[in-house]
Amino acid sequence: MANVNRGFCAPPLPFSGNKKFWAGELYDEAMLIPPGATVWDVFGGSGVCARCIKDARPDLRVIWNDFDGFSDRVRHVVETEELRRHLLRVVGGEGDMVGGGSRLRCPLSAEQSASVQGLCAAALKKYGFLDGLSIRRWLSLGVVKEAYNPDNPPANLYARVPRLPLRIADALRWLDGLEIIRDDVQNLVIPVGDYLILDPPYAASVCDEYRGRDTFSILKTVRDLMAGRPFILFGDASILFWYEVLTEKYSPRFFLKKDLISGMSGKKRSEIMYSTW
Ligand SMILES: C[S@@+](CC[C@H](N)C(=O)[O-])C[C@H]1O[C@@H](n2cnc3c(N)ncnc32)[C@H](O)[C@@H]1O
Repeated sequence: MANVNRGFCAPPLPFSGNKKFWAGELYDEAMLIPPGATVWDVFGGSGVCARCIKDARPDLRVIWNDFDGFSDRVRHVVETEELRRHLLRVVGGEGDMVGGGSRLRCPLSAEQSASVQGLCAAALKKYGFLDGLSIRRWLSLGVVKEAYNPDNPPANLYARVPRLPLRIADALRWLDGLEIIRDDVQNLVIPVGDYLILDPPYAASVCDEYRGRDTFSILKTVRDLMAGRPFILFGDASILFWYEVLTEKYSPRFFLKKDLISGMSGKKRSEIMYSTW
């Protein structure tokens, strides 16, 4: 426990909306849990919340519901690093990069784009895996939740390939001691009394009717899970949905973070964490 850095616990690969800024609060909350308890990171995403809890409390059983397959991306980090090196050569080379390890160039020339697409397609063929989300983050602006697809690449590619190598050993350690599952929240059977981390998809970021309906059924499942299980709940403005539940049924403690920069839009936003741990 001595080497835990309470203030910082960042995922080793890009993941939009990860909760790395809450590492300190998660660490403190983890200290409140009795020995022998089980913690479920129900909407695990990058696994950063599960990782923080496990680092703070190695004695706990911590389950990361890896619905997005982030752990597969971690297991392929060696291949992703090899591809990063190749991409860097195409888009400018290590000596050419400035400013925090990366530089924005926009857009890539047609020739560079063709080389980049060729490299990605070759990596996919060679390894049967491509970390499309990392590639998307490194090569395009705008929406970063969609994976880069070499068969259907974005019209314009921009380069922000990190100059620093991926820390492979650190990345692999990201999985240590965590129980990794992958299932729809509606199929999870979570015993009453287990501890929950709930960071559901935000209703405010849902932009079509179909996914909106899906989100509301997820939120109903979340509401059912909250009964009888101590929880940490994250939210944005859509948390108003929970007003009644939070104020009348539970008495959570509130934590607010302002001025976080959105990975999607670059705009400032706030996040709230509620805890009954
Ligand atoms: C706000 S993000 C969680 C981010 C995560 N806490 C982190 O720090 O990286 C919500 C997550 O819920 C996942 N999700 C969406 N629908 C789901 C479902 N039906 N069951 C389980 N997880 C789901 C999304 O893929 C996304 O990773």
